[in-house]
Amino acid sequence: MSISKGFTTGVGCRLEAYPKNNNKVLFMGKNVQINDYVHITAMEHVFIGDNVLMASKIYISDCSHGSYSGDSNDSSPYSLPIERPLHSKAVIIEDNVWLGEFVSVLPGTTIGKGTIVGANSVVSKSLPSYVIAVGSPAKPIKKYNFETKRWEKTNNI
Ligand SMILES: CC(C)(COP(=O)(O)OP(=O)(O)OC[C@H]1O[C@@H](n2cnc3c(N)ncnc32)[C@H](O)[C@@H]1OP(=O)(O)O)[C@@H](O)C(=O)NCCC(=O)NCCS
Repeated sequence: MSISKGFTTGVGCRLEAYPKNNNKVLFMGKNVQINDYVHITAMEHVFIGDNVLMASKIYISDCSHGSYSGDSNDSSPYSLPIERPLHSKAVIIEDNVWLGEFVSVLPGTTIGKGTIVGANSVVSKSLPSYVIAVGSPAKPIKKYNFETKRWEKTNNI
């Protein structure tokens, strides 16, 4: 893990790194704040940018037990979940992102700069910069307009 200046946590946080070799796999930029019961797992590459704010009870992972994509690598339901090979895809959370309470960020996603993810949302697909996204899967409902300096509703709602 690489953790930078200004990092603060709440209680009960679980930060895990399972590198395949000696490389670092979990990176935190400057002034990252995570609150109570945040669980982050990295096997390949989890990058958290500067000034990212996480509320409590958040899950972020770049890997999961088994593969379910519908190809020859698929895991059998007869195998024990704990014994299924871990599969990973990088997660990137860019600078100034704010994650609300109970957010999950799943493998293979990027959250763009300055984006906000609402409480209880599940990020299973990448989100652009400077939006507010909510729901499961999380989808943008507002976007910041740098000319008017307002968050404007998107056409999704
Ligand atoms: C995402 C959030 C920032 C949006 O704030 P906002 O832009 O002021 O939201 P609004 O009240 O204008 O809501 C816009 C719409 O999104 C919906 N919405 C807002 N937050 C939602 C959420 N988390 N999940 C699902 N829908 C949500 C609203 O119901 C509303 O729907 P409508 O247009 O059909 O009425 C806020 O709702 C939120 O979830 N904040 C996180 C709070 C938190 O976890 N704090 C921890 C402290 S670090």
